[in-house]
Amino acid sequence: MSTQQEKYSVKPAVALVAAAGSGTRLGAPVVKALVEVAGRTLVARSVDALARGGVDEAVVVVPAGLERAFADALADAPVSVRLVTGGAERQESVERGLAAVPADAIVLVHDAARPFVPVDVVASVIDAVRGGAVAVTPVIALADSVRMMQDGASTVVDRSALRAVQTPQGFDAGVLRASHRAAVQARRVVTDDVSVCEAAGHPVTLVAGSRRSFKITDPFDLEIAEAIAGG
Ligand code: CTP
Ligand code: MG
Repeated sequence: MSTQQEKYSVKPAVALVAAAGSGTRLGAPVVKALVEVAGRTLVARSVDALARGGVDEAVVVVPAGLERAFADALADAPVSVRLVTGGAERQESVERGLAAVPADAIVLVHDAARPFVPVDVVASVIDAVRGGAVAVTPVIALADSVRMMQDGASTVVDRSALRAVQTPQGFDAGVLRASHRAAVQARRVVTDDVSVCEAAGHPVTLVAGSRRSFKITDPFDLEIAEAIAGG
């Protein structure tokens, strides 16, 4: 191994778990990340999955006032966890979490709402960043045909050219932080983090995602989650 590779491989991989949303579409009595599937919260399941895939520690961004409840939910996490209070939008929550991630780390930004991300997906995102990619996202092909709506009419879109974007998205932490700063300055609103880096001029690298990384969004997704978890 060359000196440069050794330097690369010692960078810690830090998970930044976005868990500060309320889960309006799910409509559960508690915030989405604290909803339990087969007896374990979504946020704890997500941290477990990221740890199995190779992350060394986690920063979890949580809704204001719920720090204690999240500390309880994550008390038995397999890696050390820091809690950070989130913001009104996901982008702001990620920015706040990033302030707690060392600049010389690899960071994996993950939705707490994707608790079943497979080990090999997490590992391949980490490997791609360790291999020199600055912004990495797992993607999957679309199952349904797609139509684009415009001016009250619709036209077919070539599905074979489209990919759905998932998390965890992996980065050099310094690059992601600088890209978020640039987005704030430009008042740019984005829904995922590789797009933040892309807008700042960085290339995006795609790796294979998984249908198991689906995002729990509405009550039907919770039924699927219970079936997967065997509850
Ligand atoms: N998220 C966050 N901070 C916010 C909004 C969202 O950290 N201000 C997180 C959520 O906790 C979730 C992830 O971003 O893990 C993806 O967002 P989404 O699935 O939309 O979750 P919610 O915003 O909680 O759900 P909804 O949009 O239905 O309210
Ligand atoms: Mg949302």
